[in-house]
Amino acid sequence: MSAHTPIVYLHGVFMPIDQAHIPVLDRGFIFGDGVYEVIPVYSRRPFRLQEHVRRLQHSLDGIRLKNPHTDAEWTDLITQLIARNDGEDQSVYMQITRGVAKRDHAFPVGVKPTIFMMSSPMTVPTAELRATGVGAITATDNRWLRCDIKATSLLPNVLLRQLAVDAGAMEVVLLRELAKPPGRYLTEGAASNIFVVQNGTLLAPPKDHLMLPGITYDVVIELAVANNIRCEVRLVSEHEVRTAQELWQTSSLREVMPITALDGKPVGDGKPGPLFKKMYTFYQDYKQAVRAGKG
Ligand code: PDD
Repeated sequence: MSAHTPIVYLHGVFMPIDQAHIPVLDRGFIFGDGVYEVIPVYSRRPFRLQEHVRRLQHSLDGIRLKNPHTDAEWTDLITQLIARNDGEDQSVYMQITRGVAKRDHAFPVGVKPTIFMMSSPMTVPTAELRATGVGAITATDNRWLRCDIKATSLLPNVLLRQLAVDAGAMEVVLLRELAKPPGRYLTEGAASNIFVVQNGTLLAPPKDHLMLPGITYDVVIELAVANNIRCEVRLVSEHEVRTAQELWQTSSLREVMPITALDGKPVGDGKPGPLFKKMYTFYQDYKQAVRAGKG
């Protein structure tokens, strides 16, 4: 086996990825009945590990699946997975499903969850892409009401993101109709959180059941507060999205990325804005600290 074959963790064992198999009756396959996490790794150090493990617990609670490991056990497994794979910078995926059982929607009794973990080389967007920014389109958020659970059942997100790809864009900015207060409001992207800049103030939707509580979202808000950038966490209206001077997407894999066109129209002057440039510097400094073990 070549040194470059990814090593994964499945059914309690580390193995090369091409030897990892899952029974067809796994509920992850049959129902999408599982949750997952994605943890970026810089210089072999997992980024915000505790926060990711805490969010995993929240997702497991959300689907009423007992956490198969303690925080210390997860830390140990993640550390081992990173050590067994090539690359200083990696992205670690953890997938936990309700296990293998005869097909029946109701929870099976006495079944062990399936735990799968893999690591891939971390590929952050290129400097060129960050210098131009990416295009996004808007779409109606037609997902369920528990978007705070990082569920493996991602069909709505898959269909929504494909709308963006079909339009030659990178992400879809989701707007959801609310009864109270009435109107359409920003939730997030199909695979990222979205920030809006209006009059020098950073606006972010509140972490509720309509969006995934992003780990990068938290970092960006912390960095804004620490660096005296005005920041408001509150409902963000469709109008504020459409008239934004800047739009950003954030995620573990894209970090902070400027959206410079929305529905084919320029955002602001169509270039990454001044607040983005500041935030990106703060984010890079923070990453450097993580690399040095001081994060
Ligand atoms: N996705 N919202 C959604 C729907 C997401 O799928 C993601 C991340 C985020 C950002 O969360 P974080 O900052 O913790 O990565 C928000 C990951 C990267 C994925 O599914 O691959």
